[in-house]
Amino acid sequence: MHPVITIDGPSGAGKGTISQNVARQLGWEILDSGSLYRLTALAVSQDGLDMTAEAAIEAVARGLDVHFETDSGGLKIMLRGEDVSEAIRAEDMGMKASSIAAMPGVRAALLERQRAFSSVAGLVADGRDMGTTVFPEAQLKIFMTASCEERAKRRHNQLKEKGISANLPDLVADLAARDEQDANRSVSPLRPADDAVMLDTTEMSIEQVTNKVLDLAKSIF
Ligand code: C5P
Repeated sequence: MHPVITIDGPSGAGKGTISQNVARQLGWEILDSGSLYRLTALAVSQDGLDMTAEAAIEAVARGLDVHFETDSGGLKIMLRGEDVSEAIRAEDMGMKASSIAAMPGVRAALLERQRAFSSVAGLVADGRDMGTTVFPEAQLKIFMTASCEERAKRRHNQLKEKGISANLPDLVADLAARDEQDANRSVSPLRPADDAVMLDTTEMSIEQVTNKVLDLAKSIF
């Protein structure tokens, strides 16, 4: 199997930032699996489908017309030919993604698409079930957590940097609701793989977490 590092954990734990840093340092590919669930949720909204129409939503997931493009401005995520990099990051899209992610047909529809990101160069895969379901054979599995308040604070700062105003108690409530939904679904719930390294980042800087994962990677690859 090609080299794979999986980074799973609850929303806002810093998985995305750390995955990007680690992939860049190692020269590996990256899979932001949450973006596929967000893209499906956005396509479902565009199509005006009922959020409970499971068979129709599964069909949307299976036929998702998505391209990841990298140019001088960074990564662009294109859905049906339109740049939706910003649109999929909205908080309500996270909640919608979490609802459709509980549907077994949607998860099955996205499974092979995720596995196809595996690459000879190596892959850093970020999500909820990377180590348990999508890449159970991964050589290094991390389960990254942080307290709910710290995760909400980080999300708040990210939004502030983008000039978006948000209310901290609302963010805490949103994250808690999404974690609860993700951890309690019957298919591929949010949980650490048995062989995952647990990493609580509440008191750690981005640099410290990046270095910790790189140290673990150096001991394996
Ligand atoms: O990681 P992100 O917050 O972008 O993910 C959005 C939602 O997609 C999560 O709350 C979760 O419900 C779902 N998801 C998932 N499995 C993954 C990645 C994301 O169920 N591997």
